[in-house]
Amino acid sequence: MKRLGVLTGGGDAPGLNAVIRAIVKTAIREYGIEVIGFRDGFKGVLEDRHVLLTESAVSGILPRGGTILGTTNRDNPFKFPVAEGRFEDRSEECIEIIRDRVDALIVIGGDGSLSIAHELALKGLPVVGCPKTIDNDLAVGQAKTFGFDTAYAFATEALDRLHSTAESHHRIIVLEVMGRYAGHIALHSGLAGGADIILIPEIPFSYNKIIDKIQDRLKQNKRFSLVVVAEGAKEVGGEMVIQKMIAGSDDPVRLGGIGETVARQLERLTGIESRVTVLGHLQRGGSPTPYDRILATRYGVAATDLAVQGQFGYVVSLDGEKIKPIHLSEVAHGIRKVDTEGELLKAARKIGICFGD
Ligand code: F6P
Repeated sequence: MKRLGVLTGGGDAPGLNAVIRAIVKTAIREYGIEVIGFRDGFKGVLEDRHVLLTESAVSGILPRGGTILGTTNRDNPFKFPVAEGRFEDRSEECIEIIRDRVDALIVIGGDGSLSIAHELALKGLPVVGCPKTIDNDLAVGQAKTFGFDTAYAFATEALDRLHSTAESHHRIIVLEVMGRYAGHIALHSGLAGGADIILIPEIPFSYNKIIDKIQDRLKQNKRFSLVVVAEGAKEVGGEMVIQKMIAGSDDPVRLGGIGETVARQLERLTGIESRVTVLGHLQRGGSPTPYDRILATRYGVAATDLAVQGQFGYVVSLDGEKIKPIHLSEVAHGIRKVDTEGELLKAARKIGICFGD
């Protein structure tokens, strides 16, 4: 192998630059091979936009959020957007360009980009995957994704800040967090930040149960309550709240708005003044935590090792203490949701956190 390619696809996550840096350093120092980075995911591949990644090109990027390569979520080469509502299959062209430029490709992405990587691998492209997403919802082995730790640490800090103002004003404060169809960010930040109520997509909620919890707190002279709501949470028998649809994306639904709905309803039903904070993309930006920097670095090194060893069609995945290669086909098994019978959720219930059920 002489030349390795790398790209970042889908939504960004803190730690992407740390992976790129680790790939470049490992490739050059350990294996004496060159690395090029395609700009803006598969879109940049199709437009043949790439850059040589030298050690000096990746110098200083370890603590930087975002991705120096750029990314997009409108870049599926199998369903490439050509006009409003029209897509075409440009996968053959994509494979040709990649083969012309590099001997193997590392795709750093979530379920969307890794599914594309899998389809390209099935067509014979030498590809290795590296899992990222703040949502921590990738169903590849036990894969822990980098970006998650940073996202929920930030949401935890937000809860700490909201706690004091909620308490001072005797209010209900609702914090809406991301996570798509899984409640990992809400559950983890809610636990770490001492939320009283956590609403997640895996457990449809009813307002009566939430109000019972708030009344209980009032009886204990606790005149404020903190609610964390995942963007994908919904009322029993209700629907998820959609914020917008993204034209040209093959995953067009963007959730958002449930926090406002919950705050308005709780104010109406309890008479307690309520406010909502939506964390949004603040969870995705900024510097990765030490945990995410280390995980991203380990993933970058492991993905480079796999590529050089010719073990294609796999994604690196942290399972316990070890990083293991998991077949890319596992990405097609859907997303990993919060285990509602798991120890974490049970522990939360035992300390009195209400899930609205
Ligand atoms: O998958 C990561 C994520 O941040 C989700 O939590 C969120 O629903 C979505 O991406 C937001 O996407 P966009 O950046 O396109 O608004």
